[in-house]
Amino acid sequence: MAIIYEQISKTFHLKSKDSSYVIKVLDTGHLVHLYWGKSINSSNLDYLVRLKNWGSFLANTDNIDEFSLEALHQEYPSYGNTDLRSPAFQLQLVDGSTITDLRYDSHKIYKGKPKLEGLPATYVENDDEADTLEITLIDKVANVRAVLLYSVFNELDVVTRSAKIINDSSEDVKILRILSSNVDYRDSEFDLIQLSGAWARERHVVRRGLTSGGQSIESRRGASGHAENPFIALVRKDTVEDKGEAYGFSLVYSGNFLANVEVDLYSNARVQLGINPFDFNWLLKSGEAFQAPEAVLVYSDKGLTGMSSTYHKIYGKRLARGKYRDAERPILINNWEATYFDFNDESIENIAREASDLGIELFVLDDGWFGKRDDDTSSLGDWFVNRDKIKNGLDTLAKNINDMGLKFGLWFEPEMVCPESELYKEHPDWCIHVNGRTRSEARKQLILDLSRQEVCDEVIKRICDVLASAPISYVKWDMNRNMTEIGSLALPAERQRETAHRYILGLYKIMDAVTSRFPDILFESCSGGGGRFDPGILYYMPQTWTSDDTDAIERLKIQFGTSMVYPSASMGCHVSAVPNHQVYRNTPINTRAVVAMAGNYGYELDVTKLSSEEKEAIKEQVNLYKEIRHIVQFGEYYRLKSPFEGNDVAWMFISEDKKEVVVSYVRQYAKPNAPFTSIKLRGLDPNGKYRLISEDSIFGGDELMYVGLNMPELRGDYQGTMFRFEKVD
Ligand code: DGJ
Repeated sequence: MAIIYEQISKTFHLKSKDSSYVIKVLDTGHLVHLYWGKSINSSNLDYLVRLKNWGSFLANTDNIDEFSLEALHQEYPSYGNTDLRSPAFQLQLVDGSTITDLRYDSHKIYKGKPKLEGLPATYVENDDEADTLEITLIDKVANVRAVLLYSVFNELDVVTRSAKIINDSSEDVKILRILSSNVDYRDSEFDLIQLSGAWARERHVVRRGLTSGGQSIESRRGASGHAENPFIALVRKDTVEDKGEAYGFSLVYSGNFLANVEVDLYSNARVQLGINPFDFNWLLKSGEAFQAPEAVLVYSDKGLTGMSSTYHKIYGKRLARGKYRDAERPILINNWEATYFDFNDESIENIAREASDLGIELFVLDDGWFGKRDDDTSSLGDWFVNRDKIKNGLDTLAKNINDMGLKFGLWFEPEMVCPESELYKEHPDWCIHVNGRTRSEARKQLILDLSRQEVCDEVIKRICDVLASAPISYVKWDMNRNMTEIGSLALPAERQRETAHRYILGLYKIMDAVTSRFPDILFESCSGGGGRFDPGILYYMPQTWTSDDTDAIERLKIQFGTSMVYPSASMGCHVSAVPNHQVYRNTPINTRAVVAMAGNYGYELDVTKLSSEEKEAIKEQVNLYKEIRHIVQFGEYYRLKSPFEGNDVAWMFISEDKKEVVVSYVRQYAKPNAPFTSIKLRGLDPNGKYRLISEDSIFGGDELMYVGLNMPELRGDYQGTMFRFEKVD
């Protein structure tokens, strides 16, 4: 059993692969956090429970002299008692008071890991993979229970956490704040890492030292968003890729989130993660329960690579689901940057025919095939084919493309409605809005109110009808705006601040219904690129369009940042035309392919307009990717040289069986008379021999890791190359 309860000291010791997480119940019933870090044997850390500091200004808990919650490290601090730091939980009772005092009531330890009702979460395939601890706390005055859920994975340094609140009283209560996890550290000697950016430059790695007071990242957009990802890491000052401690915090949620770090008056760091309390509250009627989303906490003493590798494993294999979790993903071609809205079935079939000659496996018809949509001003919601463009209908088009040897995929933006649409005419109140206020449009669209069951039902019906009408093998599920004027016509006044969270619950319901009904379809999520690249969506759709920025050089940073948490099999990466449509940069087609081959590979350009040399290059690239995709999609990934630190960028993959290695290198700018570059590989067997396939030369694993691999002299800007090794006996 990986969770031990020591009765005498009332201590829970949660043991994951190489780490320990220790919690204690005090005599007062308060739950304190004692330790999270590298595995320890002892379960009794009572000496860490300290009394108040001399000369402190802290109030005494239960009026016990020299004893205050604020001097302790807590598991799930609530508001209104003697801990005046940032709380994880706050309720409002019918008398208007906002004080909660949660104390231990009972606990359960069992094998396996339960599902979270209505929410995505990591899972086990058999109960031996994880153990779970449920600690029930109770506020006796309010008669409310909080069930803290902890699961530890036996083969991974992962602790998952969430909280559920149950109202056992006969009165209503209002949840003002319900975070999923709280971890108090005994110091604050950390750097904070976050993944920040904007549309077309998502998830850039930002690292800064912790300072006194609060530092937080959050979303108030109704989606996880382009600006911040629902992830932070606390790393020691000397932590680098291959050494040092790293603590990852990732939220399995797609809506407004808060990741907050508070460095307190004693220089302890408190780290919190959960639904953003900003503009949120939830009315909990007598007998009702509220489930908070799951936080996935990862510990690594092997640097950032150790942390990322654990996230890749758990998110790749125990969050992503369905047929494509373990299946190689097809090489696709998408017509968006080739045609935008200007296409018909003939031009589409021409692109598909050429793509088939090049060995591409899937054609994706992007935006513009439905309603009266010739630009982005109309028709979202009208999910019936535009016969002016697709004369013989989707079924015929899909079959014709299938006959060329390609599978057929289709774009949708199911969550939206354009005021210029049939759907809006029928149901003008189905969008998120507040009566009497402007319905602010973004890209001429409004957001459907997915907090309403009838809206969800209609979305499911419309999407499923299309999917059942033609041989569709892939869906790109897009979402292109954030929420403004948040309100729902279906909710009473006291529940208006539930709208944004109810929307996400509705979205999960829709995604669950559609993906379960079509288990053979590969779903790729998208939100203006990576505006909702989060673990919540990954549970329903195993891959996400990483960014609308397809420029190879920009993608270096975006993909590096994304790889901090998300596995390469979850990233959609395409070769697009030059000059690039986002930054107007010209990069060689070889470099574009090297960069796109770091994830699920595809093309997004008009292949009918390419020169014969470019077509030959694409044929070779497609063949190469078919040979290496099992390594890229399912192997171990290592960041070797960061685009945030220099001109040279490199990364590598090692196949699951450890026999094949792919190393990719991009030199961003040419330098005259440049020094030689050699790159040290990682993760190899130091005693093994590796054959560099292109040169048929043999290197020791130790040489490649400790001496390094010489990079060729590349001429010109934006040059990239790839090396393949195989392990020889
Ligand atoms: C935003 C997506 O990220 C693009 O790839 C494309 O699908 C457009 N939407 C279509 O409107």
